[in-house]
Amino acid sequence: MKQKIWIVSFSPTGNTLKTLKAMAEELGGADGIIDLTVPGHAAPRAFDREDLVLLGAPVYGGRIPALARERFLNIRGNQTPCLVAVSYGNRDFDDAPLELADLAAQNGFLVKGAAAVVGRHTYGEIQVTRPDEADLAEDRAFARKAAARPEHAPAPVIPGNRPYKDGGKGGNFRPLTSDACVRCGLCVRQCPANAIAEDCRTIAGSCISCFRCIRSCPAGAKNMNVKEYLDFAAAFTEKLAARRENQYFL
Ligand SMILES: Cc1cc2nc3c(=O)[nH]c(=O)nc-3n(C[C@H](O)[C@H](O)[C@H](O)COP(=O)(O)O)c2cc1C
Ligand code: SF4
Ligand code: SF4
Repeated sequence: MKQKIWIVSFSPTGNTLKTLKAMAEELGGADGIIDLTVPGHAAPRAFDREDLVLLGAPVYGGRIPALARERFLNIRGNQTPCLVAVSYGNRDFDDAPLELADLAAQNGFLVKGAAAVVGRHTYGEIQVTRPDEADLAEDRAFARKAAARPEHAPAPVIPGNRPYKDGGKGGNFRPLTSDACVRCGLCVRQCPANAIAEDCRTIAGSCISCFRCIRSCPAGAKNMNVKEYLDFAAAFTEKLAARRENQYFL
C-alpha cells in the first residue's frame, strides 16, 4: 500500500505550513492537511504505520506554543513515522524541536528527523522574505533524507534541555482596529485563541500576540501602530539583523 503523507500544523502566520508543504511535495504531495491553528479543528485523529506525518509549529519563547501543544495531544500515532519541524524567527529555537519530538514520541510516533528553520519573525522586520526558495529547497532535501532512514536507525540527536526552558506563551501586544475595518469577520473566525469578540475589535486576554489578524486583514485595519510597539520593533529588528541558518537533525 502506498504510504500516505499527512501534514499536521499549527501556524498562525503561515511560515511553518510553507515548510511542511515543501517537505510533503518532495515526498509526492500531501494526502491531507490537518490545520490545528484555529480552534474547532482539533478532532482526535489516529494514524497507523503506513502513514507518514509531518508535524510542525512555530517557536514561541524557545518552546512550542502552549496552544499547539494542547491541540497536538489529540493526534496519535501507532509507531507512525514522523518528521517534526519548528519555524523560528531568527533569534533561537532553544528547546522547541526537542519538545516537539518528545511530544510526538509520547503520542506514538517514530521521529525520523527534526528541522529548526528560519521564518519571518512576527515582530519587526526580521528576515521578512523567509522561508525563501533556498530555505524550501533545504527543507525538501531534509525530507527526502529523513523519510528514507530505516525504521531501526538510531533516533535523531536533537539539541535542547529537559526540563525545557520556560516559554511557549504568547506576547503582550494586543492589536488595534482602525476605522478601515469593514466587519467582514475574518479575523474573528481565524484567531487561533478565539480572542476577538463579535464586534471585530475587542481583544480578550487570551490573545497570544501571533499577529495573524494583522497579516490577514483584507482592509489593513488590524494594526500595532503604537509607539511602545514601534520602538520595540525597531530595536528588535536591529538586534536580530544577522542572518541565521536552518538546522536539520537526522
Ligand atoms: C509570542 C511569540 C514568541 C516568539 N518567540 C520566538 C523565539 O523564542 N525565537 C525565535 O527565533 N522566534 C520567535 N518568534 C517568531 C516565530 O517563531 C516565527 O515568526 C515563526 O516563523 C512563526 O511561525 P508561523 O508563521 O508558522 O506562525 C516568536 C513569535 C511570537 C508571536
Ligand atoms: S479582518 Fe479586518 S476588516 Fe475584517 S473584521 Fe477583522 S479587522 Fe475588520
Ligand atoms: S487577536 Fe491575538 S491571538 Fe488572535 S489573531 Fe490577533 S494577535 Fe493572534
